[in-house]
Amino acid sequence: MKNILVIHYSQSGQLTEIVNNIAMPLNNSKNIKVVHHQIEMETPFAFPWKKKDFLNAFPESFLQIPSKTKPIPEAILNQKFDLVILGYSVWYLSPSIPTNSFLSTPEAKQLLANTPIITVIGCRNMWVMAQEKVKTLLKECGSKLVGNIVLRDRHINHISVITIVQWMFSGEKKKYLGIFPKPGVSQKDIDESTRFGDVILDHTISNNLDNLQKSLVKEEAVVIKPFLVLADKRANVLFGKWAKLIYSKGESNINKRTIWIKIFNYYLLFAIWVIAPVVFLLFLLTYLPLSGKIKKDKKYYSSVEIK
Ligand SMILES: Cc1cc2nc3c(=O)[nH]c(=O)nc-3n(C[C@H](O)[C@H](O)[C@H](O)COP(=O)(O)O)c2cc1C
Repeated sequence: MKNILVIHYSQSGQLTEIVNNIAMPLNNSKNIKVVHHQIEMETPFAFPWKKKDFLNAFPESFLQIPSKTKPIPEAILNQKFDLVILGYSVWYLSPSIPTNSFLSTPEAKQLLANTPIITVIGCRNMWVMAQEKVKTLLKECGSKLVGNIVLRDRHINHISVITIVQWMFSGEKKKYLGIFPKPGVSQKDIDESTRFGDVILDHTISNNLDNLQKSLVKEEAVVIKPFLVLADKRANVLFGKWAKLIYSKGESNINKRTIWIKIFNYYLLFAIWVIAPVVFLLFLLTYLPLSGKIKKDKKYYSSVEIK
């Protein structure tokens, strides 16, 4: 009998549906016991978001400053798991504050030490550097990453920016103005994510988690978009400077910080609508000379290796 913990945090329920679908084949197996847990914050993040709160979450998300999470029930903490499945969303190119906060607790270390782990990401489309940050946190917990599954919005970058903002501020995952596509991960991708559970089941029962990621990649659990990798890396450098500057102005309601948050809002718009297209042009121009590096990047970011 294998004991599996599925732990995640979701605001809209999108990631809950994804992890539940992935866990379905495991739930249905006689050889596996599945325990589910949702990470909860002592002070919850309201959903839908108010614009001010959405922007204010930036410095602490990016700088990975933890907040208080509710304790994990003893009944879970006292168990030894053969495998953990961690579902997380990306906030500002980093693991969401609830995920980062959980991974920074002693409870996470207790649960994850010497335990194989699979990450499941539900995001817009920029997750590569967030996963690098999660790899570091998992290493600190003494856990071994054996799999990664990414569900993302497949629409082009700028369309998904418009539709996700609409979704986050309205709380409704529906077509905006009747012309834009539905935001977030498509229902088809969510429904079809049960196939990843079948792969996990096979590898768990045959005690072959070391080769799990190869099988997951064959099922298109991870698809690397080289331009988004480049944009993610560039944005991480710039976000680092902004996050430090805004964080140095103090807590979220301090006047000085509010002013800088407003300036950051304009910068974000500029970055999305002006800088990103320029980076895209540079990406196209340098595609051939950089094709060797792009191939290497694709292999690395599809894997569970840690640099
Ligand atoms: C504050 C905030 C920042 C976000 N930043 C990113 C991001 O940098 N990259 C990305 O792909 N998605 C980003 N998203 C989208 C989330 O990863 C996720 O898809 C969405 O919040 C739905 O997840 P849920 O299941 O928790 O509701 C962001 C969402 C929020 C709320």
